[in-house]
Amino acid sequence: MNGAIRGVTRTALERGWEVWGVENGYEGLLEDRRRRLDDRSVGGILHRGGTVLGTARSKEFVTPEGQRRAAENLLGAGIGGLVVIGGEGSLAGAQRLFELGIGTIGIPATIDNDVPHTEMAVGVDTALNTALESIDRIKDTASSHQRAHVVEVMGRNCGYLALMSAIAGGAEAVLVPEFEPDPEGILEALRRSYARGKPHFIVVAAEGAALTAAELHEYINRTPGAFESRLTVLGHVQRGGSPLAYDRILSGRMGAAAVEALVGGETGVMIGLQGRRMERIPLPEVAGKIRPLDPELYELAQVLAGLSASGA
Ligand code: F6P
Repeated sequence: MNGAIRGVTRTALERGWEVWGVENGYEGLLEDRRRRLDDRSVGGILHRGGTVLGTARSKEFVTPEGQRRAAENLLGAGIGGLVVIGGEGSLAGAQRLFELGIGTIGIPATIDNDVPHTEMAVGVDTALNTALESIDRIKDTASSHQRAHVVEVMGRNCGYLALMSAIAGGAEAVLVPEFEPDPEGILEALRRSYARGKPHFIVVAAEGAALTAAELHEYINRTPGAFESRLTVLGHVQRGGSPLAYDRILSGRMGAAAVEALVGGETGVMIGLQGRRMERIPLPEVAGKIRPLDPELYELAQVLAGLSASGA
């Protein structure tokens, strides 16, 4: 997110605009907590994770009264445009402020990568690589000990991170909220894997999967003849750390594109990456909506695991 703050600030300053950073997201808008951003205040932040402006989940902003007050604060301060960086909830808030007369632009930023009309959101690639590094490490110990390992990654409502880290990490199975779990099928795959002499068995599970990582871990341990299982919950390590090159470039491009949209007077849109281009997507098409997980990629994960009965 710091890359997006820097991208917005530097592009707007070059246009001769005044830039203010809102502290703690919508909560800061309600409290009118802003600080002036100049060229130097966004220096040295590109390699830092999180957001230097802070963020918060605001209960008050969700109410119509809260939204009205936030809009009044902005209009009272003479703010001519607002760039909102965040996921589904943040973008829905941006749409509400737009309806209340604020020229808003959205930048998708969520490690869930579930915002429609953009191939990637800011933060996804870094979080994915963090999860992947852990899975690789776990695979080393899994192979040495001949154990099954269940690894829980983030994704309360969305299995993107789990699915992609399972594919990239060569996991044997994946659990995501979007598809029905099949614990017996996983156990079968585990037995086949053991019979074929595979030294490890990795299952990646999204936080919000219907069969949780902890439940599957216990199920494996309770089943006689299965591998012994170990459970790792990666948690918030996936939300921090120095952003990788892809995220630094994406956030800078999106920040600049957001200001260009403001300059062109086209507000009420989100910047979305489509192919190589930054497109402007009307906020109602993304606000409060989620992009479904691609079933073909889910299929691919099973095929690449190479454990189907027909391949046995
Ligand atoms: O929406 C992004 C996300 O990282 C989800 O994947 C995760 O379930 C949630 O946020 C965690 O939120 P919090 O840090 O508020 O518990």
